[in-house]
Amino acid sequence: MSNTEETRKTAMETLALHAGHQPDNDTLSRAVPIYQTTSYVFRDPEHAADLFALRDFGNIYTRLMNPTTDALEKRLAAMHGATGCVATASGMAAITYTILNITSSGQNIVAGSNLYGGTVTLFTHTLRRLGIEVRLVDSSDPANFEKEIDDKTRLLYTESIGNPRCNVDDIDGIAEVAHKYKLPFVLDNTVSPPPLFNPFDHGADIAVYSLTKLIGGHGTSVGGAVVEKGDFDWTAKNKFPEITEPDPSYHGVNFWEAFGNHSEAVAPGLAFVLKLRTGLLRDMGGCLSPFNAQQILLGVETLPMRAKQHCANAQKVAEFLARHECISWVNYAGLPDHPDHERASRLFRHGPGAVFGMGIKGGTEAGKKFIRSVQLCSHLANILDAKSLVIHPASTTHQQLSEEEQKQAGVTPDLIRISVGLEAVEDITADLDQALRKALSDDSG
Ligand SMILES: Cc1ncc(COP(=O)(O)O)c(C=O)c1O
Repeated sequence: MSNTEETRKTAMETLALHAGHQPDNDTLSRAVPIYQTTSYVFRDPEHAADLFALRDFGNIYTRLMNPTTDALEKRLAAMHGATGCVATASGMAAITYTILNITSSGQNIVAGSNLYGGTVTLFTHTLRRLGIEVRLVDSSDPANFEKEIDDKTRLLYTESIGNPRCNVDDIDGIAEVAHKYKLPFVLDNTVSPPPLFNPFDHGADIAVYSLTKLIGGHGTSVGGAVVEKGDFDWTAKNKFPEITEPDPSYHGVNFWEAFGNHSEAVAPGLAFVLKLRTGLLRDMGGCLSPFNAQQILLGVETLPMRAKQHCANAQKVAEFLARHECISWVNYAGLPDHPDHERASRLFRHGPGAVFGMGIKGGTEAGKKFIRSVQLCSHLANILDAKSLVIHPASTTHQQLSEEEQKQAGVTPDLIRISVGLEAVEDITADLDQALRKALSDDSG
């Protein structure tokens, strides 16, 4: 069965277990093996030359591709109904390469301001050093993106659900603005992968992921991915010469002619990811290890079930916290008083993820006591592990942001971020309850 046939006919739960892999004829191994190899033997000099020239697809060197990683890439693409995917060493590598793939010094991108802290530092410091300007806007209104677009803009960027404010923006509206200016819309969908949300049903052209979170799901492996929907017209307004003109770094390959979304292409709809793989992955080297690819594939196998259960648990925990006397506010878009509740209910039928913020009465000091008092929940800097996690963002994940940037990201001193795991809800709420009570009692440490 080809990938396209699987995508068209097969349910998400089945794709998560089967897409992108069939037992090989040599070993008949059912699980995807870990191909722990750097390189692959060429059948003959012609075969080697064809692979290097992209006339034939196959394995050359694990920095560029690997059979274990390939199964993960194909599976993620199938679960999105997308044409292609490149896995990377981390979510940050996926974001960095996506932007560098089509943006150069002197150009700019327009991005929502309420992003993961590491993305904000990449955008405001590292990309700036490379001469790329990132214009951060309040993402709650698509018009704010439009105001910042000029002829040097190369893409629009935001996240599907903000962390930890749990804001749900008008994703379709932002995509419309991007397409009005013939620009691709890149969405970081880390916190709501399919089946929670498919960015390509809402106008995104490229989805980026930290696989480290819900997709891997078990807190064992760092990884990232770039998924290409496959129907973007990269020829528009001659804005993307990296893709539409002969590539001098790859003996003149024209990615649009060979892999663009048109009938003459050898493999249509892969222009963006193939340019990224053969350019940035080759030159900058942030590839996923085969071991991590296999760990993450195990996560993908149960992703549909886990994702829904995370959301169901998060809804109950949020409702519990909203009623709790030690809590002053809860920012979960599954609650009716969240400003984006109505949109979240429309876009996320299983629930708006499992990461949200809450304000503890007593502010910073009570927050620290709470963190010290949790027993079941783990205090660490990750989200969407199978286990429940808590953190105080102002002093940790968002510490490197300026006060103004923290404010833009919704990070207040009393904020506790929770990532609701898969434990029994009664056990999660019992732990939160005892820690909250200790935090607000006079005698706790
Ligand atoms: C939304 C989001 N995007 C990207 C990243 C970066 O991913 P990684 O840690 O895999 O580099 C994170 C990490 O927390 C994240 O939460």
